[in-house]
Formats: sequence, C-alpha cells, structure tokens
Amino acid sequence: MNVAVVGAQWGDEGKGKLIDILSQDADITARYQGGNNAGHTVVVGNKEYIFHLLPSAILHKGKVCVIGNGVVVDPKALLEEIQGLGQRGVHVTPQRLKIAGLSHVVMPYHRILDGLRESKRKNKIGTTGRGIGPCYADKVTRCGIRMIDMTNPRILKSKLEDNLREKNDIFKNVFGYSDFSFGDIFKEYAEYGKKLEKYICDTATYLNRAIDQKKSVLFEGAQGTFLDIDFGTYPFVTSSNSVVGGVCSGTGVPPTKIDQVIACVKAYTTRVGEGPFPTEFSTALMEEIRTKGNEFGATTGRPRRCGWFDSVMVRYAVMLNGVAKLAIMKLDVLDGLDKIKICTGYKYKGKISKDFPMDFEALCKAKPVYEQLNGWMTPTTGIRRYNNLPLNARRYIERLEELLEVDVKYISIGTKRDEIIVR
Ligand code: IMO
Ligand code: MG
Repeated sequence: MNVAVVGAQWGDEGKGKLIDILSQDADITARYQGGNNAGHTVVVGNKEYIFHLLPSAILHKGKVCVIGNGVVVDPKALLEEIQGLGQRGVHVTPQRLKIAGLSHVVMPYHRILDGLRESKRKNKIGTTGRGIGPCYADKVTRCGIRMIDMTNPRILKSKLEDNLREKNDIFKNVFGYSDFSFGDIFKEYAEYGKKLEKYICDTATYLNRAIDQKKSVLFEGAQGTFLDIDFGTYPFVTSSNSVVGGVCSGTGVPPTKIDQVIACVKAYTTRVGEGPFPTEFSTALMEEIRTKGNEFGATTGRPRRCGWFDSVMVRYAVMLNGVAKLAIMKLDVLDGLDKIKICTGYKYKGKISKDFPMDFEALCKAKPVYEQLNGWMTPTTGIRRYNNLPLNARRYIERLEELLEVDVKYISIGTKRDEIIVR
C-alpha cells in the first residue's frame, strides 16, 4: 500500500514522528516538495534527530529514501545532513538514498535573494531564509539548475553563466549587492556534483518500477496545507504544493498509485512566520502552550505562534487532500487545561461561515466561533490504549472526528517513538 502523509495546518504538525513510525512498514519513503525549510523531529530513546532534506525514514536500516524531483535541494545543506548522520552512526549509502536528477538546486544567490527580498518587503512573509522561494521561482521561469546539471561541468558552466549575467545586474542595480563570482560558485557546485553523483538517478522510474514490483512507498509531505502555494494563506505560504496533489508532480508517481492519505494535525494549532491566524491565543495561554509543547521552530529556532484547534481549516484540508485517516499529535500538551476550545466557524461582517474564506481580508478579520469542552487534567503520556485515555480526552477526539468527518487513527501523547496510541 502506498500512503501519503500531509500536514493539515501550517506545518510542524508532527509529520516527522508519524513518518518515523509508518516508514517501518514501507519499503521506500519519498519527499516530494519543499527543501531544507522543513524541520522534521524524530526522538529515538534519548536521541533527537532533526531532518531538513532527508526523509525521516533514513533512521531505519534497509529502507530506501527518495528525494523527489519536486524538492529543491541545497547541496551544501544535504551534505552536512549526511555527514552529521554519519557521525552519529547512520550511514547514508547510494543504496539507501536516491536523489532525483530533475530536482532543482538551491544556489547561493537564492539564499541571498530570499533575505534581500524579505528586508525590502513591508509585509514580510517570515521565510526560513533558505532560498526556497527564489529557487522555485527560477524553476518556473526556466533558468533553474537541476541536480543532474551539477554532474556535467559543460551544462553547469553554461547555465551558471547565463544566470549570473542576469543576476549580477539585478543584485547590483536593484539591491546594491556585490557581484557573484562565477569561478567560486562553479568550483563549489561542480564539487557538490562529484560528491552527490552517486545518489542521483531517475527517481520517477525507480519509484514506479518499485511499485509495480509490489514495493510500498510512503510519501512524506513537508510544510502543511495552509502553507501550500495555491491553497494556503497566500502570500504567507511556501513556494510549493504541499497538498497531496504535489506527490504526483513531485515524484512522477501517478494518482492511481496512491492508495491512502493520512493527515497530521496538532491537537491545537501553531504557525511560525507571519500571516493570518484566526485562533491565535492571547499572551497568557501562548506562553503556557509554547513552553509545554516546546514550540520553537526546528529549522530557525523562532518561537511558534500557538492557538486553539481550528476545525474550519482542517475540514478544508481533509477535503483538499482526500484524507482517510487523521493523526492527532501532541495531545499531551493539553493535559493541564481545564477548558479546551475548538473553532467551529468564522464570524465576519455579522455572518457565520464554516467555509475557509478565499478573501484575505475576511480571513484576517474573521472572529472564530468556539465550542468549549472540559479538559481532562491528567497526564496521558503513559497511556497506550485508546480506551484508557481520560473520558474528556476521548470526548475531545470524538468531537473532532464529528466536526471533520474523518476517523482518528493515531494519537500521539509524547515525543518518543512509542508514545503513540493506534486505534
Ligand atoms: P515542516 O516541514 C512550519 C513557513 C515559514 C514562512 C513560510 C515561507 O517542518 O512542517 P519559506 O522559507 O518556505 O519560503 O517560508 O513558510 N515554513 C514552515 N513553517 N513548518 C515548516 O516545515 C515550514 N517550512 C516553511 O516559516 O512562514
Ligand atoms: Mg517542522
């Protein structure tokens, strides 16, 4: 069975942990979009691993990880990640890691442009500064450099020359930024090409053949539905399709070969970076939940904004992704609250709507309509069976199932691998 895991909020839903668990039963795990803007945390015993580009399944020996063509790869960051894992005893071999030759490469000018554009904007997006947006922009404007190009010095040279001719003009005249040196970048990237060549292949063919041979593939989404370039809270989004549709264009695996979609949500909501957030907490609760949930970005360390669970958003995500099962993560973070709220609608201009608004102003000004439930006020982390959860915790979950019209299959009640309830 081929399963896709997507985030149904603004990223950081706990996809890393879920992938770590589900990938034990999959032969291959594949990333399909995003880049090292992602930060997927996996805790094994007392060791914590944070993955940015490598699929979180790399910890399981004998499993294959794929970086699909829809991912943007910063070769420097990837090599550091591979090396860092090697130092911790996890060896990333070409048998275990396959990188799409067609995936686009994050160049130094992408990272710098990301920062320069943010500094000029009045309405900042709060990007991770990893050059993700500019790299995808070059892909779409057809001047991008792909992984396979890095392994062919003639192609790399000609594409880099073309890019720098245009970019040096723009950087100098628009941003007052000094020239990029062709020689330095060429040398650096040709070297990356040599180091990464052994991992690069036609991953679309690899994946489709594997599926035809009855191997199972797990697709690992990065970011979340509301950071999706089309369906997210644009322009406060990332530059790729994080919804399940991105799996097909980002790996070359057709929709007919995806059997099930599981969405990951937090038991509450968080967002890192700027943009509208209707159910955001007032200061007191913000501090409490941020501290309990350790809500600091895994990539940039920024404090995450926290708020109540928003069923209007997640219902929309369930529809967009064709979600069959839900994984509710970090339920234990709510253990100490005596009252818990769920947003069930948005009030705007005197009207209550249960649909996620298209209009940006409507979203910014929407007042959430809440339903209040009693908390359970007992620790849940030690619990392994659904029926042993406190009654009010089960009521909370079952109410979410009703509102979202989807079954909850996984409930995470701690950071460790075994701290999960499977229903
Ligand atoms: P994972 O995979 C949470 C946010 C950034 C910013 C916006 C655009 O760990 O869930 P970008 O650098 O992508 O151009 O930034 O998207 N963002 C994330 N927020 N989790 C992520 O990934 C994110 N990746 C990007 O904070 O608001
Ligand atoms: Mg993250």
